[in-house]
Amino acid sequence: MPYGERPLRRGGPAAGSSLTRVKVFRDRVTEMTRRLYALAAFHGFIDAVHMTAPCRTAQEQSMANVLILYSTVDGQTLKICQRLQSLVEQQAHRVKLVSVDEAQDAHLPLFDKIVIGASIRYGKHRPQVYDFINRNRSILESRPSAFFSVNVVARKPGKNAPETNPYIRQFHKKSSWRPTALGVFAGKIDYPKYGFRDRQIIRLIMWMTNGPTDPKAVVEFTDWGAVEAFGRRLCAM
Ligand SMILES: Cc1cc2nc3c(=O)[nH]c(=O)nc-3n(C[C@H](O)[C@H](O)[C@H](O)COP(=O)(O)O)c2cc1C
Repeated sequence: MPYGERPLRRGGPAAGSSLTRVKVFRDRVTEMTRRLYALAAFHGFIDAVHMTAPCRTAQEQSMANVLILYSTVDGQTLKICQRLQSLVEQQAHRVKLVSVDEAQDAHLPLFDKIVIGASIRYGKHRPQVYDFINRNRSILESRPSAFFSVNVVARKPGKNAPETNPYIRQFHKKSSWRPTALGVFAGKIDYPKYGFRDRQIIRLIMWMTNGPTDPKAVVEFTDWGAVEAFGRRLCAM
């Protein structure tokens, strides 16, 4: 019987049976407790030890708890993660989106799948990303996981796949974690947002690589179709 539906009405056929009323009451309390546990765990109020919550329904067992962690400076990686979140949630899974700087290692066992997205700045993913991966490698390897990189080199057709992008190659050299799925997405150039020095350096790099150099240019290179395809992979893995 779906949660929230009243099984017995006052004066109904079984209303007289006190045993039935006790069972209904007990089932409701169990269901409410289970939901409170799930909610508290999902929002980080209790840790994994307490997540052995009472009986999950068949529908909830097929529902994955997905953790998406992001490392961003200007927000494009977060935007990509938000798109992935809405895609995965549309497939009836639960998603928690957290900055890699705020993620709590102790909460990782609560999740069925873990995804990390990180942007490139001056040739590198932020060191915090590798610190997090090194600290949590065994848990990352114990379940389906994914990693993707966001950079502007990936705007080039020959460099927009994990096999051809230099920053994924660099990731493989720096980390021995082998995620279930790997992705790479082109990011965004937003000259007005950058400080003078960064703007000039990126303009120079763009001039050398046939990219936009107008100091007022704001160009989003992200292929949202590729992001959506990656989201479908996350659901399937
Ligand atoms: C200061 C700076 C340095 C960057 N360095 C690189 C780089 O070395 N290689 C690259 O492909 N993209 C580089 N980019 C482009 C970023 O990866 C791109 O803007 C991305 O969208 C940033 O993601 P975020 O907004 O999540 O930080 C750089 C951008 C800035 C502003």
